[in-house]
Amino acid sequence: MKAKIIHHLSQTSGPVSGEHLSQMLGVSRVAVWKHIQQLQAMGYAIEANGKGYRLLEAPDTPFPWAFGDRADHVHYYPELGSTMDKAMELARQGCPGNTIVIADVQTKGRGRLQRSWQSLQGGLYFTMVLRPAIAPADSPLINLAAAVDLAETLYALYGIEVQLKWPNDLQVDGRKIAGILSQMTVEGDCVEFVNLGIGVNVHNDIDDVDQAADALARLTSQTVSRVQILKGFIERLELRMNGDGLRRVVFQWKQRSITLGREVTVQTINTAYHGIAVDIDEGGGLVLEQSDGGRRTILYGDCLHDN
Ligand code: BTN
Repeated sequence: MKAKIIHHLSQTSGPVSGEHLSQMLGVSRVAVWKHIQQLQAMGYAIEANGKGYRLLEAPDTPFPWAFGDRADHVHYYPELGSTMDKAMELARQGCPGNTIVIADVQTKGRGRLQRSWQSLQGGLYFTMVLRPAIAPADSPLINLAAAVDLAETLYALYGIEVQLKWPNDLQVDGRKIAGILSQMTVEGDCVEFVNLGIGVNVHNDIDDVDQAADALARLTSQTVSRVQILKGFIERLELRMNGDGLRRVVFQWKQRSITLGREVTVQTINTAYHGIAVDIDEGGGLVLEQSDGGRRTILYGDCLHDN
């Protein structure tokens, strides 16, 4: 109901009468008024006078109805431990592909390699449940795709040039602005689901002494919207996954890479490998040229740029 009211008000510049809304929605004018009051309490600036209702401003909160036709797939929470856990619960219960869990704040946000992910108010924290028809060996390509699609979204919306550090950190001028964590479940030879967790520093506080991170709102004078970023990202990723876009992703990723050509140390669960990052193979693995001239492809790990 609220989605329909917001959709209708946002399509019309002038006021929309309570009578018109009640007929369109098939509910009483009192019911319409109650929904309007609830929307106002949620932060929507809606002018209400004798001529009807007019939407002046919508809050930048990722309520499901902000996502139009996708609203049914969006689960929004003001606070969660981690969107990864909620998404895992929904995925195990059989939720449809492209279900999205969003939290304004996470109390137990997780990063890669067992690190924590600080998730203060103002950032964008979400997990998308994908059910791709791919082989498990191709799953790293999904992480690369998410990094490319998020980078392209930020460029399209705000002109921010994002560079990618293998495997899937998004950086601007050497500072991290977003990270990606994925969890995959396999059944037999097939991927059952991949949960793609993404954290983006948008308006959230960043410690000024932390040279390693930055937030989008500090990088542009434009108003940065979490809802717009998420919408843009979902559209791009869905389009890619519905077509054959995973084939192009390695090429696209390389164009934004700041890892290739550099001396790096890659920390895997057991071992650290040192060498020059010379390529990304077709499965998304990082190809290292080691000091003895030999090449080694690494599928998972944390990459440190040595220079
Ligand atoms: C990284 O280490 O770079 C990955 C960070 C991923 C953080 C996101 S925020 C949304 C989702 N929920 C989590 O607990 N983690 C991911």
